[in-house]
Amino acid sequence: MRGIFVIPVVAAVLLVLVSNVATADNGGSSDPTKLLVKMVKGKTLCIKGWECREWSIHCCNLTISEYFQSYQFENLFSKRNSPVGKAVGFWDYFSFITAAAIYEPLGFGTTGGKLMQMKEISAFLGHVGSKTSSEYYGRGALPIYWNYNYGAAGEALKVDLLNHPEYIEQNATLAFQAAIWRWMTPIKKSQPSAHDIFVAKWKPTKNDTLAKRVPGFGATMNILYGDLVCGQGDIDAMNNIVSHYQYYLDLLGVGREEAGPHEVLTCAEQLSFNPISSTPASSS
Ligand SMILES: *[C@@H]1O[C@H](CO)[C@@H](O)[C@H](O)[C@H]1NC(C)=O
Ligand SMILES: *[C@@H]1O[C@H](CO)[C@@H](O)[C@H](O)[C@H]1NC(C)=O
Ligand SMILES: *[C@@H]1O[C@H](CO)[C@@H](O)[C@H](O)[C@H]1NC(C)=O
Repeated sequence: MRGIFVIPVVAAVLLVLVSNVATADNGGSSDPTKLLVKMVKGKTLCIKGWECREWSIHCCNLTISEYFQSYQFENLFSKRNSPVGKAVGFWDYFSFITAAAIYEPLGFGTTGGKLMQMKEISAFLGHVGSKTSSEYYGRGALPIYWNYNYGAAGEALKVDLLNHPEYIEQNATLAFQAAIWRWMTPIKKSQPSAHDIFVAKWKPTKNDTLAKRVPGFGATMNILYGDLVCGQGDIDAMNNIVSHYQYYLDLLGVGREEAGPHEVLTCAEQLSFNPISSTPASSS
């Protein structure tokens, strides 16, 4: 009995795959959800639309545009008196998705289930959308304290940012690319990226536990800003970033209660991954 049903299903799946292959090279702009699937050594790998274009387990999941739409982006960036809000017209949804597409095969916004995916987008954009007083510059404004390294970022993105940092201010796609690169790339090789921390791909060591560093939004602030915002209790600089994240969770319908308890959400009590003070001093 079963065989009767199995055959049409298999045939249907093959048909879908064949039709996808046939349209894969027409620019892919028509249907962002077209899925290609293959098995490699027992692992299922996918390519999905133009957004998740490298064979990856992550591309089998929802892509960002499938759960985060243009009107939601507008909501996030228009309703607040944030520098990003003021620069509406510079930051736009398409630039974000275009930039994200490079990193979706690596797990940006495509790790875990839909809830984790929406939380990661809220967290990343919470960082981008927050500011403390004057720590912004230009239109493509990102927090300067976001530990930018134009040399390394430019190398990764194949743009000469060292000699032309102004490109970041002129091009929203590039600005988002640089920000997502920072989110996805460890600052030091031995350390986790903000992404790894957030999606709990990072396992805290004994030292981390002693320093109260746990997977979650708080530790992403720790890795990105360290002593500038962490380990000083509930200071404004930290709360400003936290409140953006919470606000975005609410706007996306996830709800701020999903952010977890205070010690996960904030870094108020955490010791910095990279303490400013503990740089080995050349003892005199
Ligand atoms: C894809 O999503 C499922 C849940 O829907 C999750 O269990 C799985 O870990 C995700 N895959 C990747 C590669 O993140
Ligand atoms: C903006 O940057 C992106 C990514 O580097 C690049 O593909 C695009 O051509 C740039 N746009 C302009 C107008 O320079
Ligand atoms: C743990 O912390 C101690 C003291 O700060 C340090 O000497 C040691 O190198 C750390 N271990 C690791 C694995 O980071």
